[in-house]
Amino acid sequence: MSKFIEIEQITKSFAATCALNRVSFNIEQGSVHALVGENGAGKSTLMKILVGIHQPDSGRIVLDGKPVVIASPEKARSLGFGIVFQEIVLCPNLSIRENLFLGAEAESAGILRRAEMEKKSQTILNKVRMSLSPKTLVQELSVAQKQMLQIARAILYKPRLLIFDEPTSALMQDSVNDLFAIIRELHQEGVTILYISHKLEEIFEIADTVTVLRDGKHIGTVPIREVNEGRLVQMMVGRELDLSIRRKEVKPGAVLLKVDNLSAGRLEKISFEIRAGEVLGIAGLVGSGRSELVESVFGIAPISSGKIHLGGREITRLSITERAAAGMALVPEDRQLQGLVFTMTLGQNLTLPSVAIGLSSVGKRALSRSRENSLGHQAMQSLKIVAAGLDTEIQSLSGGNQQKAVIGKWFLVNPNVFILDEPTRGIDVGAKAEIHRLIRKMADEGKAIVVVSSELPELLALSDRVLVMRGGKAIGEVYGNKLCEEEIMKLAVGSIG
Ligand SMILES: Nc1ncnc2c1ncn2[C@@H]1O[C@H](COP(=O)(O)OP(=O)(O)OP(=O)(O)O)[C@@H](O)[C@H]1O
Ligand SMILES: [Mg+2]
Repeated sequence: MSKFIEIEQITKSFAATCALNRVSFNIEQGSVHALVGENGAGKSTLMKILVGIHQPDSGRIVLDGKPVVIASPEKARSLGFGIVFQEIVLCPNLSIRENLFLGAEAESAGILRRAEMEKKSQTILNKVRMSLSPKTLVQELSVAQKQMLQIARAILYKPRLLIFDEPTSALMQDSVNDLFAIIRELHQEGVTILYISHKLEEIFEIADTVTVLRDGKHIGTVPIREVNEGRLVQMMVGRELDLSIRRKEVKPGAVLLKVDNLSAGRLEKISFEIRAGEVLGIAGLVGSGRSELVESVFGIAPISSGKIHLGGREITRLSITERAAAGMALVPEDRQLQGLVFTMTLGQNLTLPSVAIGLSSVGKRALSRSRENSLGHQAMQSLKIVAAGLDTEIQSLSGGNQQKAVIGKWFLVNPNVFILDEPTRGIDVGAKAEIHRLIRKMADEGKAIVVVSSELPELLALSDRVLVMRGGKAIGEVYGNKLCEEEIMKLAVGSIG
């Protein structure tokens, strides 16, 4: 392996936030180089510098021994640097093909011949294992398919360096395996890979080298075989972390949420109940109806029949705000679309539900500025949200810190029935342990918690019972000494009964 990219003393600040502080390390030609660090450590910022979105305040990038200025994304592309972003950046109302070639028309001197485009898109879609017609509209794709399309778009330019910024946070295990196969192929073809993820087992599976950032500083770059998970976590958080999760025996109390024969869209006659002090996990493959279920229960998706009771009171016909005021909260799966108001500050976002509920239950009473501040600080502290302050625009927070804000705003409401859909997606190891602790604490205080997660270890660690969904139906419940990955998977894929 030879020296390819040298990152030298890169510093970048945003107003008062120093996102990168004299970061230096090398990326070898042909390596699969992982980049890890806590939420807000500076990973995405560094990547955005490499692909010409941000300019460093000082320091330089050396490519093949020569310093380069990456003044724009076009420049990055011409150097052979490609990126698959953390967020989905596609036009939903355009087709797969149109999204693939968006922006490419100009570069090929105006005209890309139709036939050529057709052929190219077919090849590239095969490469990412997408068997859909290129004419399909992007809005019809699942999250995993959208992610694959973003990858297709990035490899269209035959990059020398391909950056993946948390590509798997939206993928299920099957698609993760596909993604890894694609990465291995690209690696075989000599493409250098930079891979960002909070899932350390992925790093150990795919990477040969790992770089750790902490608070904008470079902590180390080491061959992967020289570290283990514990050491890596220690480098990331600067201390040792207790990652073991235990759930103490609970004595379930009164039924807090009761769902009877709920049908909605593809969902068919689903019934379950959950008592005070319990954590109910919801498992199932992508498309099994997990998110539809919790959205119907919270009133986001309309239901066609069935009844929902919250603490003995029927709420089937209540609005979302009324349900929230009655003590229910949902942290949605799609935080970007449903979770945050991007034109508002962190503080405003955090106190939004508290304000909305306050308004509907006590007339026109708004939160006082000081109350809003103290609530906001409480959420920032308990979830360790990294931001300059409550007045920071939510958009400027790192991906993981935005996620924490969505969770934080509902923690503040202190609901009796708290539903979390993929609560720790994109969240770093330390914060994940913290969120697990908060979830358990709420249950211990007598709340009822519903957790949807694609990560079985997470479900197992948190849940007292797991409801398994398949094809829009509740297939079964797993609990007690049957509560293990195997049982859940058997039900989820339908290899029995
Ligand atoms: N455009 C911006 N304006 C202001 N601050 C920013 C901007 N982009 C990033 N920051 C800040 O820079 C710091 C580093 O953010 P960055 O997005 O690089 O973190 P990250 O390591 O990618 O985290 P995550 O794992 O959560 O995605 C954070 O404190 C973030 O709030
Ligand atoms: Mg990031």
